[in-house]
Amino acid sequence: MTDFGLTFEGRVAVVTGAGAGLGRAYALELAKRGAKVVVNDLGGARDGSGEGSSLPADKVVDEIKGAGGEAVPNYDNVATADGGENITKTALEAFGKVDIVINNAGILRDKSLVKTEPEEWDAVINVHLRGAYCVSRPAFKVMRENKYGRIILTASAAGLYGNFGQANYAAAKTGMLGLMNVLALEGAKYNIKTNTVAPGAASRLTEDVMPPEILEKMKPEYVAPLVVYLCSDKCEESGFIYNAGSGNFFRAHIVNGPVVKLGDDKTICTAEDVMANMDRINSLENAKLLSNVQEAVMALLS
Ligand code: NAI
Repeated sequence: MTDFGLTFEGRVAVVTGAGAGLGRAYALELAKRGAKVVVNDLGGARDGSGEGSSLPADKVVDEIKGAGGEAVPNYDNVATADGGENITKTALEAFGKVDIVINNAGILRDKSLVKTEPEEWDAVINVHLRGAYCVSRPAFKVMRENKYGRIILTASAAGLYGNFGQANYAAAKTGMLGLMNVLALEGAKYNIKTNTVAPGAASRLTEDVMPPEILEKMKPEYVAPLVVYLCSDKCEESGFIYNAGSGNFFRAHIVNGPVVKLGDDKTICTAEDVMANMDRINSLENAKLLSNVQEAVMALLS
C-alpha cells in the first residue's frame, strides 16, 4: 500500500497523450499513488502529422514499471471512434475496468482565421473535441455500470479568454465546457464526476511561445496535483473549470449578469431600447452562477 492520503489503489486510469508533457506527469503521479494506468499516446508530431510512434507511450510505461507501478501502453488515435473504443478495451483487458479518464492528448495548428484551411480546422477539432467524445463515451458506459467515474477534460486559456491565431484550438478547447456541463449532469446519479482543467505548463506545445526562464517555473508537475485530486474518490466537484500552472490554481465559470427587463407582456422592446440599456445589460454586478439550462431559462422568464 502506498502511504498517501489520496490513494488510487484498485483504481484504473486512462491518460491520453501520456507519452510526454502534462499527460506523462499525470500518469506518473497516479501510478505512484497506486493506480493502474493505460498510457495512451499516438506519438505523432506537435501538429499531429507523421506516422506516429510507440516510443513515447512505451517510455512512460517503462518509467512507471521501473518505479514499481503498473501500466500498459496504448497507441491509438483518440480522434477516431475505433481508437476510443480500443483505449477502453485496453483498460478492460489489462485491468478489468476503467475508473478515470484524463482527456489530455492534443495538437496545435496555429493560424489566424482567414489562413486556417478546413483540414487545419478539422485536425485540431478532431483530436481535442472529437477525441474527448471518442475516448469518454466507451469509458462512460463502463463507469455507469460500476457507478463510479472521474473524467477530466482539458481546456485552455486560449479558448476561455482568446488568443490571436488559435481559432481552431480555442473553439475545440472551449467545446470541452459544453461537453463537461452535460457529462456532469448525465453522470451525477452514477457518481461520475467530470471537470475541466486549463493548464499552463512547459512542454513542446509551449516551448516556442514562452521564454525559457518562465518555462522553468512551469513544469507539468505543478498542474498534476489538481488533476490528481479531481480524479480521486474524495473529489466532490463536478462541472467545474480550473486554471492551473506553476503552483497557482483558480476557478473559472460562466456567470450571468442581472436580468434587465425591457418592454412588458404586451409590448416587445425595440432595438433602440436595447441600445439605450446596454450599460445595464453588460453589467456583471452580483453575477450569478447557473448550473443547468433550466436555471438559464428560468432567469429569462423571471
Ligand atoms: P505535448 O505535446 O507535450 O503532449 C501531448 C501529447 O498528446 C503528445 O505526446 C502527443 O503525441 C499526444 N497526441 C497528440 N495527438 C494525439 C492523438 N490523436 N491520439 C493520441 N495521442 C495524441 O503537450 P502538452 O502541453 O503536455 O499538452 C497536453 C494537453 O494540455 C493538450 O490537450 C494541450 O492542448 C493542453 N494545454 C497545454 C497547455 C500548456 O501550457 N502546455 C496550455 C493549455 C492547454
